[in-house]
Amino acid sequence: MEKILDIITAKMQAAFEASGYDASFGRVNLSNRPDLCEYQCNGALAAAKQYKCAPIKIANEVVAQLDAADYDLVEAVMPGFINLKLSGKFLAEYLEEMRKAADFGVQKIGAGKLCVVDYGGANVAKPLHIGHLRPAIIGEALKRLYAFMGYNTIGDIHLGDWGLQMGLIIAELHERQPDLPYFDPDFEGDYPAESPFTLSELEEIYPTASKKKSDPVFAEKAHTATYELQQGRRGYRAIWDHIMGVSLPDLHRIYDLLDVHYEKWLGESDADPFIPAMVEDLKNRGIAVQSEGAWVVPVAEDTDKKEVPPMILIKSDGSAIYATTDLATMVQRMQDWNPDKMLYVTDKRQNLHFEQVFRAAHKSGIVKAETELEHVGHGTMNGKDGKPFKTRDGGTLRLEQLINDMTDFVRGKVIENKIVDETEVEATTAKIALAALKYGDLSNQPTKDYNFDLERFAAFEGNTGPYILYTIVRIKSILAKYGVWEHLPIQLPANPFAKDLMLAVTKFGPTMEAALKASAPNLICAYIYELSGAVNKFYHETRILTEENEELKAGYISLIGLAKEILEKCIYILGFSAPEKM
Ligand code: ARG
Repeated sequence: MEKILDIITAKMQAAFEASGYDASFGRVNLSNRPDLCEYQCNGALAAAKQYKCAPIKIANEVVAQLDAADYDLVEAVMPGFINLKLSGKFLAEYLEEMRKAADFGVQKIGAGKLCVVDYGGANVAKPLHIGHLRPAIIGEALKRLYAFMGYNTIGDIHLGDWGLQMGLIIAELHERQPDLPYFDPDFEGDYPAESPFTLSELEEIYPTASKKKSDPVFAEKAHTATYELQQGRRGYRAIWDHIMGVSLPDLHRIYDLLDVHYEKWLGESDADPFIPAMVEDLKNRGIAVQSEGAWVVPVAEDTDKKEVPPMILIKSDGSAIYATTDLATMVQRMQDWNPDKMLYVTDKRQNLHFEQVFRAAHKSGIVKAETELEHVGHGTMNGKDGKPFKTRDGGTLRLEQLINDMTDFVRGKVIENKIVDETEVEATTAKIALAALKYGDLSNQPTKDYNFDLERFAAFEGNTGPYILYTIVRIKSILAKYGVWEHLPIQLPANPFAKDLMLAVTKFGPTMEAALKASAPNLICAYIYELSGAVNKFYHETRILTEENEELKAGYISLIGLAKEILEKCIYILGFSAPEKM
């Protein structure tokens, strides 16, 4: 469906033209004075300069050309503004079309295109910690938004499953159990199917080994193990398989708790086979050059305001690094999927890394020029006090612990307020807690830091996830009492609150487009907060179920039904859902 701004701009442009002025002056904007009008056109002021006459004269002429049926208010005001309020008829017809259209008539701007979303970035053998929350939930929301806007999408977690961390674990395991067959170079039999360590042992082995990195002998051993693993040493590959086997189910479990789902669980190890040929090629074509023993891809551009150092492809000791892997991953993605876009969601401290990799990818032709590359660098989640989030003993909080803390807090409220029967406490709690956690995060601009405030995020009032859920649940219960409502047409607004709600509903499509363009789920949060406010205002000011005029009542029901559908679509995109009762 065409957006309202575009429709009324086209009409305004026609009116300028009919009055003898250039159509380009007819652009209409959302009003910045909502107390006076809903939309406004300032084109007469600019036109006055060109046509050398009073702006108010132009504005008056243009207004006379507009179709009065479209507006409750259409007036020229000094010095030459045109103020507009849409008519109830215009709004009702527009909403009725939205109601009947697929996905509320949103323009599927991504139709036929493929977007790969690289988000999450979990590292195998290390428990997820709070630093993994933001990329997971922002990435999931963006992926769902892309899909809603018509794109085909592939979410890829890009596991950290290949680097030194694997060598460290192998080296540490060797110190502890040197007699395991994995370490016997002459062993030719089948390795045990059962892992030599459990998940909790693994979670202890890794940090212990990591702390020993400062010991040069141990570090050397870990580096050698990493190298040999990457060269395909059989026993080490078998340990690697065990690490994956023990670690992955746990990652799945936690991402499931967050309702975050990946189409692909590929990792750095999957990119590894692409590295040798890619490096050879870049060397041969002179795209990679030698610098102090390393191979680098210069990526500086004349227009750079600050220095962008070359991307290191191969270190002087011959090893590949993070950037090499990201570039090789692009080789795989282009070859297998040939996407129109790759979107990366990581901590913004990786901004430079992606700037370098993106430039190298386009410069080398590994990624074709038409394939867009975008990095969404998110800010940090801090504690309530604005300081880095730490456990009491100064450690990093596990993601699972954060989820549990939120869940416990919400469960307390659910039980205390006797919201649901005992059997439904857990399911309801999980939904509210997830909404609190995700909305608390997503309502912030991704690039900004924010403070995690459990009580505030979980509040049922204010700009929170639970408030949005509460609004949806309220509408659902009215609809349930009413009966079958899905077929009811939208009617003229019966009061100013209905009209405000209708205006809010019309902003759905423009909001989705703006959120996509800016990679900003926070715009969707702001929108549903506004829409919920309009719903609740309407609810408080209007007797809905007790309305005696059945015709009127049906109109109310249809309107709140549409608002509910839109709210539910929005929270689906944000990655949470509403319970039946609250
Ligand atoms: N594993 C990485 C880390 O912990 C994040 C991966 C992000 N994705 C990427 N394609 N580099 O920092």
